[in-house]
Amino acid sequence: MNYAQVLNELETLVNETFSLWEHNRVGFQWRHYTWNHTLRVRAMGMELGRREGGDVKLLEVAGTLHDITKRYDGVILTDDNGQRILDRNGFWLNETLTPAGQNIVTGLYNKHNLQGKVHHESGAVITENILAMYDFEPAFVQAATAIVLAHLKPMSLTAEDFNLLYGNIENQILYDADTMDPNVGYTAFFRNIHIHAHFALQRSSFDLENYVRSLPRWINSKQEFVDKLLTESSREVAQARQDRNQQLFAQMVGELEDMEINRKYGLLGLIEYFVSETGDPHFLNQLNYLQTEWLPKRRQWVAEEEKNESARERAQAAVNRVNDFLTLLERESKGEI
Ligand SMILES: [Fe+2]
Ligand SMILES: [Fe+2]
Repeated sequence: MNYAQVLNELETLVNETFSLWEHNRVGFQWRHYTWNHTLRVRAMGMELGRREGGDVKLLEVAGTLHDITKRYDGVILTDDNGQRILDRNGFWLNETLTPAGQNIVTGLYNKHNLQGKVHHESGAVITENILAMYDFEPAFVQAATAIVLAHLKPMSLTAEDFNLLYGNIENQILYDADTMDPNVGYTAFFRNIHIHAHFALQRSSFDLENYVRSLPRWINSKQEFVDKLLTESSREVAQARQDRNQQLFAQMVGELEDMEINRKYGLLGLIEYFVSETGDPHFLNQLNYLQTEWLPKRRQWVAEEEKNESARERAQAAVNRVNDFLTLLERESKGEI
């Protein structure tokens, strides 16, 4: 068995599966979100695996497959009083969305009657069946299946159940990586701005200054996620990401003092770019656009358009802040920091 080829096939399968639904947005997710999130979680999981002495290959395979049934999840179900309906483990139940197309994954989903199951449970069944088609050791398949099952954590767990679910370090690691990606660091900021802008534009309009000034509330609300992560390495990485977001806020609020320059060249301009592209934002494509077009164009403007020395210096500093942001965002997305 050629491992690189198998991994490639799994990636293609996951990507193909995500594209089978016609809808774009459900709650805080949109079409291109799930694939980009999968790549980032996998990269972070592998890095945490190296730091914690976990099986990196196992984390690579499980990371690739962990959200394979995520797009079946529709809106969260509520009862007559508007309360979210929980299953026995404290997971929110959601409506099941039927795909418009079919493939091997949807076939397995139907065959095993997975409708109504939350995506970590259905994903585990799919993972087990898909991996069994390849030449993996049975123990490897079982371990990958267990990781996918454990990537959402039941609300209250006895010590015994915790050990059952999270006895393997890889299960802890993927849970941590999956929790970190949407909640802490610049990757979480990317998600936050796109969610916020989408709903603000639906209601009325996006208010740049209000958005920036509201960031500390959002950042501080994530501290409990950091403190509850399961491994030491995850808590370290996540705390650094939290601190990075606090610094980002300080930079952004500072930029409000010099609106004209910073909306053209700085982090405020970056925010306005994200707000202009809320339809179905693709993380990797937006990152690439910002690095290869948005930023070079502004470097050119600094040289050509800013004749006044003070304005040129402020514009240059603003461009540098965006450059730093993009460098760190890319490193986070690769699981390096
Ligand atoms: Fe998930
Ligand atoms: Fe996930």
